[in-house]
Amino acid sequence: MAGAQDLLDAGERLDAEALRELQLERLRASLRHTYERVPFYREAFDKAGVRPEDCTTLADLARFPFTTKGDLRANYPYGMFAVPQDRIRRIHASSGTTGRPTVVGYTDGDLSLWADMVARSIRAAGGRPGDTVHVAYGYGLFTGGLGAHYGAERLGCTVVPASGGMTARQVQLIQDLKPGIIMVTPSYMLTLLDEFERQGVDPRSTSLRVGIFGAEPWTEQMRQEIEGRFAIDAVDIYGLSEVIGPGVAQECVETKDGLHIWEDHFYPEIVDPITGEVLPDGEEGELVFTSLTKEAMPVIRYRTRDLTRLLPGTARVFRRMEKITGRSDDMVILRGVNLFPTQIEEIVLRTPGVAPHFQLHLTREGRLDALTVRAEARTDATRETRDAAARSIATAVKDSIGVTVAVEIVDPETLERSVGKIRRIVDLRG
Ligand code: DLL
Repeated sequence: MAGAQDLLDAGERLDAEALRELQLERLRASLRHTYERVPFYREAFDKAGVRPEDCTTLADLARFPFTTKGDLRANYPYGMFAVPQDRIRRIHASSGTTGRPTVVGYTDGDLSLWADMVARSIRAAGGRPGDTVHVAYGYGLFTGGLGAHYGAERLGCTVVPASGGMTARQVQLIQDLKPGIIMVTPSYMLTLLDEFERQGVDPRSTSLRVGIFGAEPWTEQMRQEIEGRFAIDAVDIYGLSEVIGPGVAQECVETKDGLHIWEDHFYPEIVDPITGEVLPDGEEGELVFTSLTKEAMPVIRYRTRDLTRLLPGTARVFRRMEKITGRSDDMVILRGVNLFPTQIEEIVLRTPGVAPHFQLHLTREGRLDALTVRAEARTDATRETRDAAARSIATAVKDSIGVTVAVEIVDPETLERSVGKIRRIVDLRG
């Protein structure tokens, strides 16, 4: 893309050494900020016998204690805030499935940082001032909609705040308002695909050129499916409410080689999920974030439960993370074998005759857990194709993951469709 380098902001132009210096300076300030203002952190640091001033190199961060979702829940709703209530301008909540949600807060400064990071992300995805951006992430307590919205405005785009749902109208809006960019979960993009086809509109004929997909795991196979069916570039955006929302990391459209972490503001580590030991770059483990510049709700060594690895920078100075394999919470252990929904997605999407819609049903047979992959037939699939697909999925799962699963190919349009984050695992173990 001609002149793309000229568009980089000051943070993206740092060289590696200047970046490390800036990170250390900000890290020390963030540790001080939390220690002085959040009783939870003061107690946790005291208990671990560390003081903010003990952090003299980036590696010293490993001496500080982790923060978990449980800690945020225990301090619900406002116990983790580091500023007085009158400086909190906005509240969001995480999309936790059980128990109390986790509430997060933003100062004016945090909202501005967030908009900058999402603007940077959209630009890395190929968006430019003047583009029209269709935002189909849900608006509300979920950070997807409003996060994307203010970022697109910050970049100088025209925003269509469609939110999630009312799928027929979304297709209409895309045809009429002619956005170049869509921001939506990959699973809801597939729901939109069905709707385009139902309305007899060729999904390859729209004005869309880039899709910025995140909020749930998705695979290279899904990228190929979406890019092929819509004739767009599909890139990955990552984030979580506890850290800020979308815009923590973003894939660059020119390389599509994993997500650059905006590590001038969000410092990543990879740790062994069991022992908590910090792992070297390149090794897979749990992603942990420390916010470097957040005011209202700074987090120190927050355990995301997301599994990935850190890789060196390419299109940007910042390190990359590989596409998320899954969350440790979504891992199914089947007769001792670990399995992630993304592994099944890869297999289902390369199987002829099967649509990109699937669910995993977990049941118990005697004392053992059993898994049934339910995948949807394509409308033109014959009985023979369907039978062959079932056999081929079962064999591929056995060969690549090493475990036996049942496979059911169900009729077209029978599996639940996504309007936001999709639920892949249906746990029927009771
Ligand atoms: O999902 C923020 C977001 C909105 C990100 C829109 C991207 C786009 P939460 O609801 O707090 O925040 O959920 C965060 O979603 O820990 C991951 O498990 C998962 N997740 C988010 N982005 C990705 C991604 C938003 N690109 C949790 N790939 C995270 C895989 C993702 N998983």
